[in-house]
Amino acid sequence: MKIVCNEKSQVLAARTASVSGLELLTTEFKKFPDGELYIKTGRTDDETVIIASITDSDSFIQTLLLTDACEGSEITLVIPYMGYARQDKKFSEGEPVSARAVAKALSEGVSRVCTVNIHEKAVLPLFKAPAKDSSLAPYIGEYIRTLGLEDPLILAPDAGAADFARDVAKGMSFDCDHLQKTRHSGTEVTMEPKELEAAGRCVVIVDDIISTGGTLVTAAGMLKQQGAQSVHAACVHGVFASGGFARLSAGKIASVVSSDTIESASSRITAAECIKNAILN
Ligand code: R5P
Repeated sequence: MKIVCNEKSQVLAARTASVSGLELLTTEFKKFPDGELYIKTGRTDDETVIIASITDSDSFIQTLLLTDACEGSEITLVIPYMGYARQDKKFSEGEPVSARAVAKALSEGVSRVCTVNIHEKAVLPLFKAPAKDSSLAPYIGEYIRTLGLEDPLILAPDAGAADFARDVAKGMSFDCDHLQKTRHSGTEVTMEPKELEAAGRCVVIVDDIISTGGTLVTAAGMLKQQGAQSVHAACVHGVFASGGFARLSAGKIASVVSSDTIESASSRITAAECIKNAILN
């Protein structure tokens, strides 16, 4: 079994190769003058693991080309971050189910698919091959422990992320809650923990994705007003769109961490061990 990767998952693929003892093949990536992409990878085995986050159109095309290049090998496709998973239904007439279109295309010629904290589990059956999702929640909990915060409060930014926050807190026996929005008027909305008090506490807001950071900055501001001692942020997929990381920094969030499902300077949690367990079991 050998590993290949697209350009956006080089670091994670190297880390996965290191923890699993599997060989990582080098791949050449080029762009033709007309913008078309080219890849050439090394000699594959009977089984190949492709590690490929889909963060943009080029990474999507590179991944399609990789699966084609690995034909004849039994392919496990690992998608650490799956862009387009948030459009998992038609919200209005004329829209595509983007997650379905992407899942169908990517799973052509693939034996199985592994994802990491996919935004919607309902996307898994849209792949044409058996697909399973793994969670980095325990690794995020472990990372929070290393911050050395006194009795931290783990908070989900909304009810939808409450299960994820509970999974982060579980192994470390941290307190956990989720933020609840109350609309006071057309323009005035407040957010506070549903059951616990933030006053005097170090709060860590956890979510699967940080995109623009808008949700977190608003929540952090309100938690500070409620007397929180400090507000930290941790997520699986650090998209940081439209200056999201700078927005969080300027928003007085004490620390921001993400995993290497999207590789950036804030990727201080690795998905390598989690992926190793998914591909070898
Ligand atoms: C939404 O369902 C996701 O879990 C995140 O809460 C959302 O993507 C965050 O977006 P932003 O960082 O742009 O506020």
